[in-house]
Amino acid sequence: MIKTDAPLKITTHEHAHFEKATPPFGIVIFGASGDLAHRKLIPALYDLYHDKLLPEEFFIVGSARTRWNDKIFRERVLGILKQNNKADPLLQRKFIEHIYYRSAEYTSPESLRSLAALMKELDIKHESKRNVIFYFATPSVVYRDLIQKLAHVGMVSKVKSGEPWIHAVFEKPFGHDLDSARKLNKIILNVLDETQVYRIDHYLGKETVQNILMFRFANTIFEPLWNRRYIDHVQITASEILGVEHRAAYYDKAGQLRDMFQNHMFQLLTLVAMEEPVKFEAKEYRNEKLKVARAIRPIRKDKLHEFIVMGQYGDGKIGNRKVPAYRKEEGVPPHSKTETFAALKILIDNPRWKGVPFYLRSGKRLNHPMTEIAIHFKRVPRSIFTHLKVDQFKPNVLSFRIQPNEGIFLSFEAKCPGPKLTMASLNLGFNYKDAFKTIPMGPYERLLLDCIRGDQMLFVREDMVEVSWKFITSILKEREKILPRVFPNYRSGSWGPETANQIIEQDGRSWQDF
Ligand code: BG6
Repeated sequence: MIKTDAPLKITTHEHAHFEKATPPFGIVIFGASGDLAHRKLIPALYDLYHDKLLPEEFFIVGSARTRWNDKIFRERVLGILKQNNKADPLLQRKFIEHIYYRSAEYTSPESLRSLAALMKELDIKHESKRNVIFYFATPSVVYRDLIQKLAHVGMVSKVKSGEPWIHAVFEKPFGHDLDSARKLNKIILNVLDETQVYRIDHYLGKETVQNILMFRFANTIFEPLWNRRYIDHVQITASEILGVEHRAAYYDKAGQLRDMFQNHMFQLLTLVAMEEPVKFEAKEYRNEKLKVARAIRPIRKDKLHEFIVMGQYGDGKIGNRKVPAYRKEEGVPPHSKTETFAALKILIDNPRWKGVPFYLRSGKRLNHPMTEIAIHFKRVPRSIFTHLKVDQFKPNVLSFRIQPNEGIFLSFEAKCPGPKLTMASLNLGFNYKDAFKTIPMGPYERLLLDCIRGDQMLFVREDMVEVSWKFITSILKEREKILPRVFPNYRSGSWGPETANQIIEQDGRSWQDF
């Protein structure tokens, strides 16, 4: 008998991946004076070091145009690490002995040669076995020139297996449309092999996102239901309360479709919809994701309004705080037509999903922060209970709460206690924090570790980045027809424009309430 008040007993089975040793390496972070390096990369590397997931033989070189030196950079790193959860002053002192800084003009061969000379020295000093990662944390317009210059001075090249390795990590945005992504791929793959290229999408490094696959393929009870016969539709919501913050220069040219849909939302969709890979390894896994992505039906030009809605936030309130409209944010042009919200209906033309819509919505300055995938099952076909009509039963919903309050929840119908036949909707749930009593590894930690270990599974392959851009570019080309007559069209603190409801209500469904 299951005792409901007993604490959840957790048995763990380790996958071979974490038994792998981490090889010695050096990492060069381009864009080291920027936000990403400070907020994500350096803390992630420190956390790995703290958790003994890095070898002792490694070095980190920060590089940017800013004229800093090792001392200034190290002080800054110490400043960042003070606020770290795993702060340990002694360990941090040891950690920064692995850290260096070299200011560089990315377009100047001399500058890069001097960086190469420094790396040679550090390789000997730290015994990094000439294994190296180049991390492109710069604005993406720099990627093209920088990778070519690195090749020109001999710092990157295609290497054979067994030789010291060279990996290159590219942050998003990887291009700004299909054409530019293809060109970028071409340039990169001219100087590196695809096995050396790590296109990062930090959503793939989130514990809760990785778990979608384990949940689907390590349990027998859900997979038989995972198809058009039992699933009515799927909703994916990624809402943020944040606005554009200080990123207008990038964001106003990107918009929500490029910033969230081409990458994160698309990846979540493929994880829910993909077939079972033959094996849990990079090639098979990425093949399956690609296959389903290719089965996404292009949106017909004469039906744009049935499939997509765009929005831009006006002023409003987030909690009790008054916030300005997008067009009044610092750096945003006063007549900007950039979308800060989008809702999409997506159909997948394969036997598993034919006729099952996937509704996606994501926006800035929405009601509260929440990323969730909800699988809505079909309603029971009839009611055997005389006084209850079939539409009084709520269909089961399986929710993957990606963040915050990470967990998995299943709603079901049950009888309320008492002599009358009254039904209630209840929830079976699992919450990471309560179950595992541990803070999950951050996405950047996980992805950096994988990159050091040469595991490309959680990175986006060349063909996938192009398929996702193809879909998004086809929408962006029709943008003028899609844009509403009036922007802004939703208040900050709401759930987006009213018109986003039509996308789902036209099919007799409604957005999940949060
Ligand atoms: C980034 C986008 O990739 O993801 C941001 O550029 C967005 O605009 C962020 O805020 C969301 O990430 P997370 O991990 O906070 O959900």
